[in-house]
Amino acid sequence: MTSIANSSIDGDWIALGQADEIAEDQGKAFTLPKESGELSIAVFHHQGEWYALEDCCSHARIPIVDGPVKDGCVMCPWHYAEFDLKTGAALSGPATEGLKTYPVRLTESGAIEVRL
Ligand code: FES
Repeated sequence: MTSIANSSIDGDWIALGQADEIAEDQGKAFTLPKESGELSIAVFHHQGEWYALEDCCSHARIPIVDGPVKDGCVMCPWHYAEFDLKTGAALSGPATEGLKTYPVRLTESGAIEVRL
């Protein structure tokens, strides 16, 4: 997991890392400071697109970043709930609530940025 300092914040967009740090069908977790603790975001690279979701399964509040990615979904590595990478919707149990998603973009230099 990579912690991001406040100095990485540029307007509404926050630089998290470089795209080449995340292989196809893999995720990487980043933590950001917030008023009450930290916010953990999982960034996934899948089929040439980038997705950012809260890194906290809605079933038992455990990170999802290391779950397998397939067919537009990430599967929680703990009890196998599936979440839509684009919308965060829970597609299978035991999770019944979706995950928050964040807009994500790449800069010309290959930096991954999210907007909170
Ligand atoms: S912690 Fe994710 S499905 Fe249970």
